[in-house]
Amino acid sequence: MRRDAAKLYIDYLMPIASLKIKGRAVLAPMAGVADTAFRLLALKYGAGMVYSELISADGLVRRNDKTLELIRIREEERPFGIQIFGSDPSVMSEAAAMVSQAGPDLIDLNFGCPVRKVIQRGAGSALLKDLPLLRRIVRSVVRQADRPVTAKIRSGWSERSIVAEEAARIVEEEGGQAVTVHARPRSMKFQGEADWTVIARVKEAVSIPVIGNGDVFSPEDAGRMLDETGCDAVMIGRGAMGRPWIFEEVNAFLRNGRYRLLSAEARIDVCLAHYGLALEMLEPERAVREMRKHIGWYVKGLHGSHRLRKTVFEMDDPVQVESCLRDFQRSLKKED
Ligand SMILES: Cc1cc2nc3c(=O)[nH]c(=O)nc-3n(C[C@H](O)[C@H](O)[C@H](O)COP(=O)(O)O)c2cc1C
Repeated sequence: MRRDAAKLYIDYLMPIASLKIKGRAVLAPMAGVADTAFRLLALKYGAGMVYSELISADGLVRRNDKTLELIRIREEERPFGIQIFGSDPSVMSEAAAMVSQAGPDLIDLNFGCPVRKVIQRGAGSALLKDLPLLRRIVRSVVRQADRPVTAKIRSGWSERSIVAEEAARIVEEEGGQAVTVHARPRSMKFQGEADWTVIARVKEAVSIPVIGNGDVFSPEDAGRMLDETGCDAVMIGRGAMGRPWIFEEVNAFLRNGRYRLLSAEARIDVCLAHYGLALEMLEPERAVREMRKHIGWYVKGLHGSHRLRKTVFEMDDPVQVESCLRDFQRSLKKED
């Protein structure tokens, strides 16, 4: 049965155990992109939930300082899921117990990462080749965690081995409370088109909430994914880069069938707000470095963006970067 996403949107709450996620769009975990500053912005614009980047269970149990830093939670950053990866059930459950103490709203298990460093350790998407081990991991984490456990899977290891339905069923059988499906096999990494029919099949296969993921770049895409697959919510990754307000657009579109496009100047205002948050959270040099790519995404397609990007990429001084952005914004005003 397909549903009319727009009609169902109003005040929609996706229940993940006792947690209620507002709306139908969540921010994807994105290492190196969706850090605290970005997550706070996404929440401000109506993302129903945000996630940490994937965090090594081994690093946690070894009490690696940098890894421990990643599970620090800010109260304003909720609902917040901490995502962990690993391949040893006992290490994963020990890590889950540590993560539980940090107090996230849920713990998400990464069964989708295609990066060599991760799959060489038998973790991430490699677990889609070993479903009995994936089962043991979910079981042992659910046993240790005192909060909802969810999983993020890909459709399979390769186009010839699509196992999403089976993997999702295992997650459900072992007590997982929701499953996110990135509708691409590991072999496709981020290339080619996501096959949303896999999401629809997973939705038919399980009764826990299903979050659909892959190639949602616009509010229309979000509506189409909800409609075509029957998934409970969509997860947006690359579509939110340089555009954290996409959640507001999606929410407006699902509610009213339309949304307002942000003006070029307003886009720079968001970029400046993002920069301000980054400066609050990070050492100035790090904030400048981290913001370079974001600035590139915010200004993409705007007149003069090429020059601005080049200038900002060579700057180290935080004050200069800000004034450069403000000059750019003024130049856009003159264009109007
Ligand atoms: C830069 C980058 C970093 C990512 N890091 C993670 C991660 O830490 N954990 C994870 O589960 N997925 C990660 N992903 C995958 C995304 O969460 C998402 O599944 C994928 O980008 C497909 O969604 P999209 O088409 O909306 O971008 C990452 C993707 C990108 C582009």
